[in-house]
Amino acid sequence: MLDVIARRRSLGLARLKPDAIDREIIEKMLEAANWAPSNGDTEPWRFTVYTGDSRVKLGDAFAEAYRQDAGDDFKQISFDSYRDRGTSAPLWISIGMTPKVNDDGSLYMSEDEEIMAVACAVQNLHLIATAAGMVGMWHSKGVSCHPHVADFVGLQAPSRLLGFFWAGYPTVAWPDGERGPVSEKVIWAE
Ligand SMILES: Cc1cc2nc3c(=O)[nH]c(=O)nc-3n(C[C@H](O)[C@H](O)[C@H](O)COP(=O)(O)O)c2cc1C
Repeated sequence: MLDVIARRRSLGLARLKPDAIDREIIEKMLEAANWAPSNGDTEPWRFTVYTGDSRVKLGDAFAEAYRQDAGDDFKQISFDSYRDRGTSAPLWISIGMTPKVNDDGSLYMSEDEEIMAVACAVQNLHLIATAAGMVGMWHSKGVSCHPHVADFVGLQAPSRLLGFFWAGYPTVAWPDGERGPVSEKVIWAE
């Protein structure tokens, strides 16, 4: 298990093969995600899986999000590259968080706790992808969390879009990871 954990890698879109991912593997990734822990058993993770032609509309949503934010800085070339973004990975999974709410509309658990649970779920699916020979990345910046894109994937408040996970087989040698020593991050209070 530690070997898979240490081998799990994030890799950019430019270094993914276009090869489609078997549905069986994707289902296993989602099953692993669904076994994540959550305080209060709220199971707040929500995913939409984009493969095949659905990625074209996803790219359109990214491009529209860019257009909305660009204002006077609008550049056609960036718009086009956001459109191509959807098809630059064979698999995209939107990472949504839907909190459990009480009858009065208040949150059953804190938003932080719900987000932490979603993070556990994403780690689980990334580990299955690793075991299947895939790299992936949780991308949370810019258009990946944009309100227009959240709307596109069907997440309305109090739900939140926390980004996207893309995955595919790498075109390059398996990337090395790097971490500072764990000893610098741990205090043993014996
Ligand atoms: C919650 C979360 C959000 C992330 N968002 C981004 C992102 O927006 N852009 C990016 O380049 N990498 C993003 N990453 C990936 C990290 O850059 C990556 O995990 C880190 O560099 C370590 O590399 P490794 O995953 O290969 O071990 C994110 C990772 C996590 C856990």
